[in-house]
Amino acid sequence: MKFDASLALQSRFHEVIPGGSHTYAKGDDQFPELMPPYIVRGSGSHVWDADGNEYIEYGSGLRAVTLGHAFEPVVKAASQQMLLGSNFIRPAVIEVEVAEQLLSFVKGADMVKFAKNGSDANNAALKLARAYTGRDMVAVCGDHPFYSVDDWFMGTTAMNAGIPQAIRELTVKFRYNDLASLQALFDQYPNRIAAIFLEPEKDKEPQNRFLHEARDLCHKHGVVFVLDEMITGFRWHIGGGQGYHDIAADLSCWGKGLGNGFSVSALVGKRELMELGGLRTDKDKVFLNSTTHGAETHSLAAAREVMNTYRREPVIETIWARGERLANGFRKSVAELGLQDQLGVFGKPCCLVYGTKDQDKQPSQGFRTLFIQECMKRGVLASSLVVGYSHTEADIDRTNEAMHEAMVVYKKALTEGLDKYLVGRPVKPAIRQRN
Ligand SMILES: Cc1ncc(COP(=O)(O)O)c(C=O)c1O
Repeated sequence: MKFDASLALQSRFHEVIPGGSHTYAKGDDQFPELMPPYIVRGSGSHVWDADGNEYIEYGSGLRAVTLGHAFEPVVKAASQQMLLGSNFIRPAVIEVEVAEQLLSFVKGADMVKFAKNGSDANNAALKLARAYTGRDMVAVCGDHPFYSVDDWFMGTTAMNAGIPQAIRELTVKFRYNDLASLQALFDQYPNRIAAIFLEPEKDKEPQNRFLHEARDLCHKHGVVFVLDEMITGFRWHIGGGQGYHDIAADLSCWGKGLGNGFSVSALVGKRELMELGGLRTDKDKVFLNSTTHGAETHSLAAAREVMNTYRREPVIETIWARGERLANGFRKSVAELGLQDQLGVFGKPCCLVYGTKDQDKQPSQGFRTLFIQECMKRGVLASSLVVGYSHTEADIDRTNEAMHEAMVVYKKALTEGLDKYLVGRPVKPAIRQRN
């Protein structure tokens, strides 16, 4: 397997793009050092790099591409819309059509505001909640890794350079499935917390009706309950994490799968909150995500066809079934090779990740890198095992074979030493304080 063309591109990328990537999670430091594939094209669940290497890809578009690369009905819908014009001096009719359509997916929501990135939707949710409650603080679930590129969230991470302390102090954290940790924040900061943010579910299921209890506790304390559906939306259930867990948030934030790779996100929620950004209010007006490109018509056309596809075809069922098949194969190989203490696959079948440990059963980035490296050598590009609708059973079976072979190497490295098998440095967490 050759990477000559990609390695030649690498310095050009770093010369003009800080980090050599527009998204940290796609960066060189997330992949084996001498295997930095730059992608030329994708089709369905496969991608091809600058050297012509072909891979079965997982977690496509940072979990945005749920239907598959260049999914024809979505591409056609977007391109036909482009021929009608993409942006006008007045709203386009498609804005209301797609807003109404999205509301048919989201339980208990009345209004929609579209934007381009998930962060825009979460930022807007916070601003609305602050205006609505007249409070300045926000509580985020500390077990979930990401909500926004904005300072209110990035200030809570290790990568907080350039963010004033005064802003960092306004965000506090609670734990998933730990109602007492939320109550403790409400006690510690009475009438200060405007909203809480969490994903409906990540790797742990809600215990003891945690989501419902958290929402009720929020309402008791006058706090806005916000669910981040960026990953659970269009993956867990046709109605997202809210549909799956039968709960309605005050505000929920959607992106990623909504556009199958096109840039479209949405803040969705209750009228009494959302209307603060509208013309039908006597209250102080909230500047609610008013942007030049917020309602770009072809992204909305893409979203419309994504939603049509979810209504028309068994997308959710297929994603779950493929993930189940993948996880079963992974677990079977782990058991056969006796690697239960080192390799694990976690999460719902529709959104799997894997964990890698060393000989001392400690989480290991070195062994993670080795696993990625060995899978790549066998045509599988998998920093997660997040499947999409285009992964076929044959893709999954090929992946399971590749992962089995990668695990054989992993096992050898456990006894003979990682250095003997890993080429180059280990990967690092994408969000960290220093390089
Ligand atoms: C759960 C979650 N929320 C919000 C975001 C931010 O979305 P975006 O990158 O589209 O701004 C992400 C991005 O990865 C995410 O995973």
